[in-house]
Amino acid sequence: MTLSKIAKLIKDGQPEQPVEVAGWVRTKRESKQAFAFLELNDGSSMAGLQVIVDDSVPGFAESIKAITTGASVRVAGVLKESPGKGQSIELHAAELAVLGTADAQNYPLQKKRHSFEFLREIAHLRPRTNTFGAIARVRNALCAAIHNFFQSRGFLYIHTPVITTSDCEGAGTMFQVTTLDLAKLAQVKTEIDYGQDFFGKQASLTVSGQLEAETFASSVGDCYTFGPTFRAENSNTTRHLAEFWMVEPEMPFYELNDNMDLAESFIRTVLADVLAACPEDMEFFNLRIEKTILETLHNIIDNDFIRLPYTEAVEILQASGQEFEYPVSWGIDLQSEHERFLTEQHFKQPVILYDYPRSIKPFYMRCNEDGKTVRAMDVLVPRVGEIIGGSQREERLDVLTDRMAECGLETEDYWWYLDLRRYGSVPHSGFGLGLERTLLLLTGMANIRDVIPFPRTPKNAEF
Ligand code: 4AD
Ligand code: MG
Repeated sequence: MTLSKIAKLIKDGQPEQPVEVAGWVRTKRESKQAFAFLELNDGSSMAGLQVIVDDSVPGFAESIKAITTGASVRVAGVLKESPGKGQSIELHAAELAVLGTADAQNYPLQKKRHSFEFLREIAHLRPRTNTFGAIARVRNALCAAIHNFFQSRGFLYIHTPVITTSDCEGAGTMFQVTTLDLAKLAQVKTEIDYGQDFFGKQASLTVSGQLEAETFASSVGDCYTFGPTFRAENSNTTRHLAEFWMVEPEMPFYELNDNMDLAESFIRTVLADVLAACPEDMEFFNLRIEKTILETLHNIIDNDFIRLPYTEAVEILQASGQEFEYPVSWGIDLQSEHERFLTEQHFKQPVILYDYPRSIKPFYMRCNEDGKTVRAMDVLVPRVGEIIGGSQREERLDVLTDRMAECGLETEDYWWYLDLRRYGSVPHSGFGLGLERTLLLLTGMANIRDVIPFPRTPKNAEF
């Protein structure tokens, strides 16, 4: 039985009963009177379990000797109310099996606080800590809430390819896919067209499933894709990963306002669902990681988001009297310091900015009549900044091809995308939510490397 199930039994008020549990030992305390206390954890919940082992247990002496922090054990026994402080229930062992020992000299996770920097070096063991166990459970609950949100609204979950030949965001930050023979390369030493060998065309890891999702939105209706995406941007920040997960809904017949309505209700619903699904883990984050987390989340869930054109945001920033590191003028891509000023100091709430300058946004966004802006929207939240990027899509063939030329894109490369505008084109919209940025918001963790199991960043793909 998992420890989370046991915690539930206890809550339901039925403690005294036989159970079998298995997990990893956090601490061992030996007593002179032939018994020992083990604190066991199996990662199913924050709760550990105190296990009492005495010399009536077969093999008692050898087992206790073999057990150190990190050892794995299986214990059968009876749950009883605990007279001691700190726990209401304990397990009185009748049988104890040591499954795997952990050399106390070398086991890196001792019973003390380790820094997140240190734990990043042992990404294979950090899920055994309270913080990383809680992050794994919250990440799981968030993914379930995301699927639930879309499934309950009749959206189709579609799978878009990881390997692609189109550059959705047009930022030139794609990882290339190749079957390059390194030995051959070393011999030849001449220029090789290596990106093109397998597919006959330059192929890359996808930066977004949006373009493919648009094809399904233009045929089966509301849909979403949810998977890993890749960016070769060489930015070493606490908010960027080279491999991150993105949820991308795409809806026919939606204009920008409908898109904003969906994005706002999506964020508020999934945050509320995670709070309901993981109350203990969320308490832990609020207590140990960031003291304003629950307040911030409730504030987001309970209040409408602010909606503001980019141009007005620029005016607010310019009038703020703040000394920004990166000066504000119309046309700049807002930096995280600007996004945080708007959400943390000025509005103290999430903000949806829309109608961005076309010069800083990708080719597929619908052009506004003013000739200067596009129907883009970014959702900004306190502490994190941009969490969603989206837009109404350009559905007019002539405007889109002109825009592609302006962005230096070859229309032949996007013939299938343009077909959607040739045959039964409809207004449509969509957005992408960064899963890890949402986890930063939920957990209060400061570094995006700590909310994905195995972070991929420049010079870092160890595990
Ligand atoms: O704003 P982005 O680049 O938008 C798109 O890719 C659109 N094609 C999405 C769509 O309309 N279907 O990225 C969307 C979100 C960002 O707001 C951010 O939360 C996250 O993806 N994101 C990253 N997260 C971690 N590391 C990175 N390098 C990220 N780049 C974007
Ligand atoms: Mg963006």
